Order: sequence, then C-alpha cells, then structure tokens
Amino acid sequence: MSDVLLHVEHLSHSFVNGHGSRKQVIKAVDDVSFDVHAAETFGLVGESGCGKTTTGRTIIRLYEPSAGKVTFDGREISGPMTRDLRKYLSNNLAMIFQDPIESLNPRMTIEEIVGEGLKLRGVTNKSERHVQVVEMLHRVGLTEEHASRYPHEFSGGQRQRIGIARAMIVHPRMIIADEPVSALDVSIQAQVINLLNDLKQEMGLTILFIAHNLSVVKYFSDRIGVMYYGKLVEVANSDDLYLHPMHPYTRALLSAIPEPNPLTERHRVRIDYDPERDHDYSKEKPEMRDLGNGHSLYCSETEYEKALKELD
Ligand SMILES: Nc1ncnc2c1ncn2[C@@H]1O[C@H](COP(=O)(O)OP(=O)(O)OP(=O)(O)O)[C@@H](O)[C@H]1O
Ligand SMILES: [Mg+2]
Repeated sequence: MSDVLLHVEHLSHSFVNGHGSRKQVIKAVDDVSFDVHAAETFGLVGESGCGKTTTGRTIIRLYEPSAGKVTFDGREISGPMTRDLRKYLSNNLAMIFQDPIESLNPRMTIEEIVGEGLKLRGVTNKSERHVQVVEMLHRVGLTEEHASRYPHEFSGGQRQRIGIARAMIVHPRMIIADEPVSALDVSIQAQVINLLNDLKQEMGLTILFIAHNLSVVKYFSDRIGVMYYGKLVEVANSDDLYLHPMHPYTRALLSAIPEPNPLTERHRVRIDYDPERDHDYSKEKPEMRDLGNGHSLYCSETEYEKALKELD
C-alpha cells in the first residue's frame, strides 16, 4: 500500500451555539480517525449535517480542532498556529469550497481571486502572476479574457472551475474538494469530475473528495469513509464498500443509489437506518475496529464478530 500522506487521529470539532441555559454544544466531528495515502482519492460521504465540511475545514485549520491530531507527510499540522505552519499549509493543502457562489469574493476579479495564492507565496511580480493565472485558467477550460471579469458573470460550472484554478495555482500536494459538483447540473458534473481526475493524474494530486451520496464518489474514489452524525462509521476500499458494506448506515446509503436499468430499478428496495433499532450499545460500547484488508467498522464486539464471520 502507498504511503500515508494525511493522517487524522481522534479528530473532533464542536460548535457552541447560544449562551447560558440555552447553550448547546454540537459535536460536528466526533473522534474521527482515517488515513489518506499519497496520490489516492479518498471519498468522504454522509447525509447533510453529518460533519463532512467541518472535517475538511478542521484539517485545513479554518476551524480549530477541539481534540485530536492531524499529520501531513509526517508533520503535525494540528498544533499551535505559527507563520511557518500557515505557510506550510497553504503550500501543501488547498480546499475547493462547497458553494462556488459564496466562496468567491464578488468584488475581486478572477485574476485577483486565482492569483491570491501566488501572492501569498511571494510571487510579487504582477506580470509573472498573470502568466501563471492565465495558464491555470486554460488548464481548467477558461480563457485569458475571463481574467478581468467578476464572479457574477459566470455560470455555476464556470465558477467551480475558478474555484479549482484558485486551489491548484500553488500546486498543492493535496486538495480537499467539498462537494465540488453537487451545485451543478448533472451534465456539467461529469466535466468537472473529469477535470479533477485529469489534474490528479497529471500532478499526482491526493484528493479528499466530499459528497453526500455514494453515486458520485463510486467511480472516483480509491477508498471511502462513511460519516454519520459526526462519527466515521465505516472505511473501506471502494470495491469492498460496494460489495461488502458492513455498517447498516452504509447499506442504507447504497440502497439509495438509483439503478441505471429500469427493470432492476423497479425492484430496488430502499433500506432505512435506525440506530435505536439496529444497534444495542447499552452494554457494549462501539469503537472503530479493523476487519482486515483496510476495512474498518465502527461497531461493538458482538457486531465485530458477526461482521468477521460474514466476510469470511
Ligand atoms: N458555523 C457553524 N456554527 C454552528 N454549527 C455549525 C456550523 N457549521 C456547521 N454546524 C453544524 O455542525 C454540523 C455539521 O455540519 P457540516 O456543515 O460539517 O455538515 P455537512 O456534512 O458538510 O453537511 P452538508 O452535506 O449539508 O454540507 C451540523 O449539525 C451543522 O448544523
Ligand atoms: Mg458540507
């Protein structure tokens, strides 16, 4: 197996809403551990609100970790923020944001938006930045004329390309792509995914690909992690996850994917997941357990024994 590039260990992030007696703590990411290997695409899936974006943002330090540790290429990136660490992060990790409209400053031109990373990197010469920006715009399917325009003049798919160009301009080693296609028409989705795939091949990029359903990540990911209410409940190679899903929530997600064949689609049975009904954690506490072959499952001892038998 290839080298671990990103190592996430017991990572948590909580949001605190309200004050006094109305104070509410949301454990958006709750003790999550996983590894992403160099040059692989790791898909992170789960329903809306399960903590995918918060996981990505905490890794890249847009949010502070409440607990846990993250290392990148062996270097801890979850410790106290220093100028040096900020620089290391911006040179190595970049994020493509979920909302291509909100994440682009409406008062900045595309040239300024895409060139920002170069500026931070110390490329002070404007014409040198221009050359690199235009090169990157071409790479993502846009043109030099687009450089002087503003975000509102673009379509959703084009805006997402701008987001990709902005992330890729510093040639990061890893990209966290937060639902990069879910705001787009189905016909445009494939184009943006193909673009990411090409960049991955060309530049040996490592990708953490966030999506809320399994149909998008299925063909795109080498390995997949499934999240449910702040917890990672299953991690496996893509094929294993599809052929041998072990967590009832993963089975529910898989059953939600429409079948391309109308005949089988008609007989598709949706499975629902009900934690109260599907687990008894009153005596045995669940934890992440290794099923072998890179497959891990959040389960109790009894569930673990059962899963091992089923996989045998
Ligand atoms: N800035 C915030 N302040 C308070 N709570 C937040 C904030 N951002 C997210 N949350 C809460 O944290 C939890 C996880 O949110 P997050 O955005 O990470 O989910 P997600 O899996 O990315 O969902 P989606 O698929 O809708 O993008 C949710 O309960 C959400 O309401
Ligand atoms: Mg999100």
